[in-house]
Amino acid sequence: MGSAWLSRSIRSLILTVLCFLTSATTLLKSENVGCDEYLGSDKVVDKCGMCGGDNTSCKVVSGIFKDSLSSVGYHKIIEIPEGATKINVTEMAKSRNYLALRCRSGRSVINGNWAIDRPGKYEGGGTMFTYKRPNEIRSTAGESFSAEGPTNEALDVFMIYQQSNPGVQYEYILPNVNVVSPLLPPSIRPGKTETFQHLT
Ligand SMILES: *[C@@H]1O[C@H](CO)[C@@H](O)[C@H](O)[C@H]1NC(C)=O
Ligand SMILES: *[C@@H]1O[C@H](CO)[C@@H](O)[C@H](O)[C@H]1NC(C)=O
Repeated sequence: MGSAWLSRSIRSLILTVLCFLTSATTLLKSENVGCDEYLGSDKVVDKCGMCGGDNTSCKVVSGIFKDSLSSVGYHKIIEIPEGATKINVTEMAKSRNYLALRCRSGRSVINGNWAIDRPGKYEGGGTMFTYKRPNEIRSTAGESFSAEGPTNEALDVFMIYQQSNPGVQYEYILPNVNVVSPLLPPSIRPGKTETFQHLT
């Protein structure tokens, strides 16, 4: 009788411990884990991709190209520098124009030499571009391409112009050269931040 009671209470002890462990794990999982993987840390990745950063280590470059062009053909409209990330070039409305992309070294990435490529993925400048051209008749969206980067060389965006330009919106992120890295030896640090900023 004694041993039956003992095994019953061991079983109930084991069940209690298991139950406790399960609820403890659930509790831990529901706690926030920051991007630094510390429990309860509320650190998030900033727009520069830095965990716990304050958005100052990069520069967002954006704009709209809306000049009207006059002659049919390829016109260079935007330059994407080396080191750019989160690239997005989007025609603001559907048109008969096409976007084209070429590496500074001369290699065509999308829509080169008067040949129109299918929408899809195209490698260029060390990154993968996703080229979209909404095909549905009813769609009013324009062409676009985007890439995560970083680019390992400059790229030029062209418009193959055929009719009036509805505007092309572009955005990319560059590392901020004004941030002095603590790893730089003092000899090549800019003497005065002020003068340095004037140069840019
Ligand atoms: C960084 O920028 C993002 C998006 O613009 C913003 O939500 C966030 O609050 C900014 N973080 C800091 C620390 O300024
Ligand atoms: C690119 O920008 C356009 C216009 O701002 C936006 O609608 C689209 O979602 C963006 N695409 C990507 C991949 O971020």
